Amino acid sequence: MRASSNKSAKEPPGVEITDDFKLVVTKKGQHRRKTRAPLKKPLHSAIGGESDTKPGLCRDTVISQLHAAETDLLQSGYFAECLEIAEPILSNVQQIVCLGLGKFSECSIARYQLAFLRCLRDKLPLPAGLAAQFFDPLFGRTEVEVLQTLGETVLTENVEGKYSADCRTLFYLPHCPKQLVNNLLWKNWQRQQIANLVLICNSFASVVNNHPHRLLSRNAGYILRAADVFKEFPLRNTFRFSDIFNDTSLHYLASVSTGKEEVPATLWENCEEPTYEEDDLELVSQQLIERLVVDLN
Ligand SMILES: C[S@@+](CC[C@H](N)C(=O)[O-])C[C@H]1O[C@@H](n2cnc3c(N)ncnc32)[C@H](O)[C@@H]1O
Repeated sequence: MRASSNKSAKEPPGVEITDDFKLVVTKKGQHRRKTRAPLKKPLHSAIGGESDTKPGLCRDTVISQLHAAETDLLQSGYFAECLEIAEPILSNVQQIVCLGLGKFSECSIARYQLAFLRCLRDKLPLPAGLAAQFFDPLFGRTEVEVLQTLGETVLTENVEGKYSADCRTLFYLPHCPKQLVNNLLWKNWQRQQIANLVLICNSFASVVNNHPHRLLSRNAGYILRAADVFKEFPLRNTFRFSDIFNDTSLHYLASVSTGKEEVPATLWENCEEPTYEEDDLELVSQQLIERLVVDLN
């Protein structure tokens, strides 16, 4: 779900990066894209292994890279604009859940996204010490150690995005598979509960405009329905690196939140649990992990 771009994320000076997506400047000053390195051991965290073999990428290094990214963001007009949009909507948030961040020990895009969430939380008038909860099946030991050292919570179960929001919750799903967002919407698709959701993720409008309706009704039916009734606030991608926050919007169901019920009663009908064809699967399913564990044993 990451749109292509021509200006990629770099670290602040003096920080080493090992990012599959960065542009490389050749001697002649021409840009060429690095080929994406294959993942050596996918899903290592889920199957109990570890692939953080790159020397020097230890917890403390990643934490200082993260702090540098936070400083960078806090000085940006991009962040100031996002905060202005988000503050009125997020000021009563009681819980923060982040899915699909990726391997932020290796990928500066993911690291900046983590920095964004932490900066946003720190600037909002939320309960002191509110830890964010994180899950990504790709997390390795370094990701877990960094998050825990920073006082965040790492979730261990892969519920494929089917989290029940029992209180007002910000879900941050940067560039995540549509099916993950779709599952989350399904799990909370009731009049009372849907008002608890605030999502920062790929723009619903872009999802609807950029994919055939036939495909969306199969793979993202709840996004299709939500796009009609949720309010969407695009977070304008003005940050100096164009491939970190592109195509990102804040979404919530304003009319239900304010008690002004304007949505049709039929919206809450026909809410079967989504299922996906194996060939269409975009997210890492629980079943896939179980199969990998069996294969390894
Ligand atoms: C396109 S990547 C985005 C990574 C990063 N946020 C970025 O913008 O570069 C999608 C992410 O979703 C994660 N993902 C897939 N299935 C998931 C699941 N069941 N629960 C949480 N995250 C999942 C993947 O591991 C991957 O890190």
